[in-house]
Amino acid sequence: MKNIKAIIFDAYGTLFNVNSAAEKCRDKIGDKWEGFANYWRTTQLEYTWLRSLMKRHKDFWQVTEDSLDKSMKAYEIDSSMRNELLDLYKTLSPFKEVPEVLKLLKEKNYKLAILSNGTPALLNQLVKSNNLDNLFDDLFSIEEVGIYKPDSKVYDIPIKKYKIQKNEVAFLSANTWDVSGGGNYGYNPIWVNRNNNTFDNLDYAPKHQIEDLSKLLDII
Ligand code: LAC
Repeated sequence: MKNIKAIIFDAYGTLFNVNSAAEKCRDKIGDKWEGFANYWRTTQLEYTWLRSLMKRHKDFWQVTEDSLDKSMKAYEIDSSMRNELLDLYKTLSPFKEVPEVLKLLKEKNYKLAILSNGTPALLNQLVKSNNLDNLFDDLFSIEEVGIYKPDSKVYDIPIKKYKIQKNEVAFLSANTWDVSGGGNYGYNPIWVNRNNNTFDNLDYAPKHQIEDLSKLLDII
């Protein structure tokens, strides 16, 4: 991968473990914690796509609450858990290699940024609570354009800010549909395939995939 000027990361699922909120409550939730966490995540993403198509935008925090309420009903989780799960979602843990890799990249001359569905306040809190706030040049939120990924207006945000070409961006996401979105847009996506998943059939195949971010330095 040549001429990369900016390395742009998806946040949820790529840098931060979205299942870590429910996992931290596994003693109270029991064995169903993982099914519940996956259902919550899937519902949350579906709501982002449906709201974009319906042109009825609500920010990511509201979508996270709405999808949690449906998921708690579906999995019969006691309503007393609601606030605890939401508080934990605001301070999700990063995957273990993330801080070290970001520090190594920071020493090189790339722009480093997050491009996420999260609101500016959520993204700020996420990076601050994990002491990662000094490592990024920008935290780009879709709230700037009022529509969710994979709308091309979202992927335009860093291109306009940095005045660079689409193919000068290395875009990292663990979400297959986000890799397809960024790839169809013109980025160089790298699929962070943490769980040996199967890729989508959405007119794009990533040239690069890595198991976790520690392999990133071998590619760029
Ligand atoms: C994000 C979601 C898609 O951070 O993971 O944008």
